[in-house]
Amino acid sequence: MNILIIYSHPSRESYTFEILNQLKNMFNAQNWHVDVSDLYANNFQSVMTAEEYEREGKSNTTLPIPQDVLEEHRKIENADCVIFLYPLWWSDCPAMMKGWFDRVYSVGYAYGQKPDLPKMKIIKYGAVICTAGHPNNFLNEIGIAQSMEKVMLEDRLGKRFQHKEMLVLGGTLEIDKVKEHHRNEISALVKNIKLVIHEAL
Ligand SMILES: Cc1cc2nc3c(=O)[nH]c(=O)nc-3n(C[C@H](O)[C@H](O)[C@H](O)COP(=O)(O)O)c2cc1C
Repeated sequence: MNILIIYSHPSRESYTFEILNQLKNMFNAQNWHVDVSDLYANNFQSVMTAEEYEREGKSNTTLPIPQDVLEEHRKIENADCVIFLYPLWWSDCPAMMKGWFDRVYSVGYAYGQKPDLPKMKIIKYGAVICTAGHPNNFLNEIGIAQSMEKVMLEDRLGKRFQHKEMLVLGGTLEIDKVKEHHRNEISALVKNIKLVIHEAL
């Protein structure tokens, strides 16, 4: 089983980094292969250049796809499960992660497919894990939890993933109150990934 984690956080002291390590430990315990696209550590280019826009904005698939984007495509094609892990910043993912979608979901590959071009495979499991300062019930009350789910699961993951799940690990402003609950939620997610992917194999 190959797991790809798309991870966006600048600090190794962060709670989100702690979650990354929890996930890696749980996957390693299953003997699953884990590949991490650590966007900050890799200095991932998140902004689309004018040159890239010529291809993406105008659907000109005769133009080349940048090498770093092709590398992300390679990782996607190798994965049974992709996890997007990030902190909630202003009710969305950090700009670095948003830029991953802008650039890696290139036309002809992730959408607007054509018979003569490589197209993105349908991935068995897609999970979004987002840490958040506000507690989950508050994010639900103000409608932000629903809007995040709509954008991440329905649009960004969309039909590219067979099974989709979003975990909002909220309440990090009072971290000691939520840590154990978060750990249990992550553990349940890993069990579910195992169940779903083994069923599909
Ligand atoms: C720039 C910025 C914007 C943030 N925006 C939100 C927000 O919109 N909603 C929220 O619940 N928490 C917000 N937070 C809090 C983070 O979600 C929270 O600190 C993080 O998920 C967990 O901490 P970590 O940075 O140690 O991983 C924000 C934090 C930063 C730095």
